[in-house]
Amino acid sequence: MAQLWGGRFTKETDRLVYDFNASLRFDKRLFHQDIEGSIAHVVMLSKQGILTVEEKDVIIKGLTGIREDVEEGKLAIDERYEDIHSFVEANLIDRVGDAGKKLHTGRSRNDQVALDMRLYTRMKVLEIDAHLEKLLRVILDTMEENIETYMPGFTHLQKAQPTTLAHHYGAYFEMFKRDRQRMKDIFKRMNYCPLGAGALAGTTYPLDRNYTAVLMGFEGPTLNSMDSVADRDYLIEFLAALSTVMMHLSRFSEEIIIWNSNEYQFVELDDAYSTGSSIMPQKKNPDIAELVRGKTGRVYGALMAILTTMKGIPLAYNKDMQEDKEVSFDAFDTVEDCLTLFTGMLGTMKFKKDRMAKSAMNGFTNATDAADYLVNKGVPFRDAHGIIGRLVLYCIDKNTSIDALSLEELQAISDKFGSDVYEAISLKTCVEKRLTAGAPGPDAMREVIKLHKAYLEQEEKFFSDKVFAEN
Ligand code: ARG
Repeated sequence: MAQLWGGRFTKETDRLVYDFNASLRFDKRLFHQDIEGSIAHVVMLSKQGILTVEEKDVIIKGLTGIREDVEEGKLAIDERYEDIHSFVEANLIDRVGDAGKKLHTGRSRNDQVALDMRLYTRMKVLEIDAHLEKLLRVILDTMEENIETYMPGFTHLQKAQPTTLAHHYGAYFEMFKRDRQRMKDIFKRMNYCPLGAGALAGTTYPLDRNYTAVLMGFEGPTLNSMDSVADRDYLIEFLAALSTVMMHLSRFSEEIIIWNSNEYQFVELDDAYSTGSSIMPQKKNPDIAELVRGKTGRVYGALMAILTTMKGIPLAYNKDMQEDKEVSFDAFDTVEDCLTLFTGMLGTMKFKKDRMAKSAMNGFTNATDAADYLVNKGVPFRDAHGIIGRLVLYCIDKNTSIDALSLEELQAISDKFGSDVYEAISLKTCVEKRLTAGAPGPDAMREVIKLHKAYLEQEEKFFSDKVFAEN
């Protein structure tokens, strides 16, 4: 049991208490951030004359040595230490002696952990954004190739009006694009440095908080030292955004599961992205999509857990906040895995375009267009709606579709029908004529695709600058 705070105590900590309290098992993930923050802190301490240049150099050498040894597997982060901060400090003192004891000057583990967690989360925001960008590119490629791939559009999971694969995928482009915008918002709001807040009330040392903030790529220091150590809003925002990403992935997964079903057969999953059954030899299951759908609950759970943990905590730091880590790390891993696997599955999935078009042709998806045809011939829309409704009933009775009826049959219901009706309600026309902004018509679609391309380029620039600043 290696602790930083034995002085005031006369008895050893109970073993179970120690284990219950210790966080190394999971906060060892923050190792790199802890070293980075410590280096920035001592560089600043020496600039301010609080440490000598020699002390600073010795400490930095010790810290980078620890980092190398851990990276090369020569030093294990073992569970003799209470947390990652104790591990680093104890090892530093072992290596460099008295200078190492000065590392914690003007710092508390409260601002230290606030910094580590923020650095780690900020990195994850950028990584998730990069995953989302890859997914958007796969979606956009599919859109470009499928401007004229017809499929039914649904409401209530009932065929409604014809649309295209490009248009359907375009809806998901919008969702994941908003997810990226949320990453950008979160990044901007969270990018302030809590280091120097101390335990809660700042310190009496003349720290230059601006300097450490800039050293670590922050916009500046946080402005209230109590809030700095007590704030986990950025995590809550990120988990809320991740929950939304999962909700989008889950809806998309649900559609793929439906499209892959025996009844639909709109898609063929790549063998590398599907699995078989141990008993039924004919099976090829959409397990990846199902798992992504299933894992959504874990990420929502993390959000709920942290919201609940934070709701009763008086200012400033309380140990409850240590509970932010395990669920967050699990959520970060889950979303990264889901985005990677989902993108791979999507990029290798094949479409059965004939079946999709055939499906779009039956189910009266052209009924609205047939009504619009009559409107163009001078029939008021409400009357046209009634006429087409009767026509649909007639077709259901005869087990046929509107476009398969003879002109005589059509005219028996309304004398406004002419031979131009077939062209007007063909699948191609139904889609092509939908040219309002955001609609599936090919010209409208091409406009949107152009905008998406421009968006991807400009967004990529914003984030690659930040990723660069990170390294
Ligand atoms: N392991 C702690 C956490 O994650 C570090 C901060 C400890 N601070 C303290 N006052 N005990 O929150």
